[in-house]
Amino acid sequence: MGFRKDFLWGGATAANQCEGGANEGNRGVANVDLMPLGEDRYLVGTGKMKMYDFDDQHFYPALTAVDFYHHYKEDIALFGEMGFKTFRLSIAWTRIFPNGNEEKPNEVGLKYYEDIFKECHKYGIEPLVTINHFDCPMYLIKKIGGWRSREMINYFYKLCKTLFIRYKGLVKYWLTFNEINMILHFPFVAAGLCFEEDENETQAMITAVHHQLLASAMATKLAHEIDSNNQIGCMLAAGSYYPETCKPEDYWKAICDNREVYMFADVQARGYYHNYALKWLEERNASIPFVKGDKELLKENTVDFVSFSYYSSRVSSSDLSKGKQSESNIFSSAKNPYLKESDWGWAIDPLGFRSTLNELYDRYQKPLFVVENGLGANDVLENGSIHDDYRIDYLRQHIQAMKDAVEKDGVNLLGYTTWGCIDLVSNGTGEVKKRYGFIYVDRDNLGNGTYQRIKKDSFYWYKKVIETNGEDL
Ligand code: BG6
Repeated sequence: MGFRKDFLWGGATAANQCEGGANEGNRGVANVDLMPLGEDRYLVGTGKMKMYDFDDQHFYPALTAVDFYHHYKEDIALFGEMGFKTFRLSIAWTRIFPNGNEEKPNEVGLKYYEDIFKECHKYGIEPLVTINHFDCPMYLIKKIGGWRSREMINYFYKLCKTLFIRYKGLVKYWLTFNEINMILHFPFVAAGLCFEEDENETQAMITAVHHQLLASAMATKLAHEIDSNNQIGCMLAAGSYYPETCKPEDYWKAICDNREVYMFADVQARGYYHNYALKWLEERNASIPFVKGDKELLKENTVDFVSFSYYSSRVSSSDLSKGKQSESNIFSSAKNPYLKESDWGWAIDPLGFRSTLNELYDRYQKPLFVVENGLGANDVLENGSIHDDYRIDYLRQHIQAMKDAVEKDGVNLLGYTTWGCIDLVSNGTGEVKKRYGFIYVDRDNLGNGTYQRIKKDSFYWYKKVIETNGEDL
């Protein structure tokens, strides 16, 4: 009973949120580099900041992030000390192909990740690699409009081929795109989309995501051809919507909202767009730009496992004025009066985690992998220590819920990586003070600090959790 013997415990990061070193190793500029700290973060790519470049008025947190670029040996040693079995990280596309369309890959970038993977294996840590975690070369955005162009598939395919060949034997777990459904909420970040005035934005988004889904299917096929040991996963931002009341209209709204969450992962896991997705598009005067052969490609190359992020559940209300009452990882939600919220207003709901695990397993019947979960909080450094009992509480309850899903409900679960195992830059706000880590990084929102790494109380707690395979919480 309990978690499987080879359960993959670990932590997760993304290149743009932790690496920094933006001007090193011939790296090119990506969309995510241009996301400033502060409220304007959400304007990039919209009419207000359309084809945007760096300026003096903003601070760009991704350029330095928490400097994993120079600290990776020290950081991986700390992960090893906690007993990590896996470490999720993403590839910065612009380290491998700085503009995205070069003939030959950049050897410095390739070597950098090779060293990281070798370093992981020294500690018995299996890398879990997200090929695309919200990054797109700016050159391709300016030249062809990012993922709205079908040409992107070829560039992405070339990136994948380069990675699968070079890292054969070093990496076996791959995720194609981070949070495939995030495009409906953060289109510049998820697909490099800048909208034209009066454009049908749904059409632009579905065009872009269709290209990503094709690219994901091609990558899945290729990964299996290059190495039959490769395991490929899709990744969605999950967290079930509850109806606000038992009023049928609220229940119906929850069904519709949940369908938007699953709409694209459905394609990756089942191999086709569900009818409701086609109807959803029709209602918005949009359609999928199918080309001959697309349907077969999607059908024949579904993923091996389904991975997802879970931070909180959400609430649907038929009263649309209540839609934006609560924050939930950029998704709109009404308030849930039964739940406490984090410092950043995200509802804390461990049982919702168990529900989500069950819903996903019922729906896809494929092994699941939780690749993000955690609490963003304002940690205080006191005499060299961080007593983050609130984080331990959050994780304890969520791991217990996950255990229930495995033990009592029979969910097939491969592993669990907490988000931001080391403090990093928040995707939603650009802050570092929204901390998730077991390891504190001495850096403030504006990049000041020594970047020293300090173990929090949760570091020792998680080590024990891993040691006992989740028995001692
Ligand atoms: C997920 C993303 O949406 O949530 C991460 O995959 C992100 O990139 C995480 O950091 C937490 O969100 P935030 O806004 O607190 O950083």
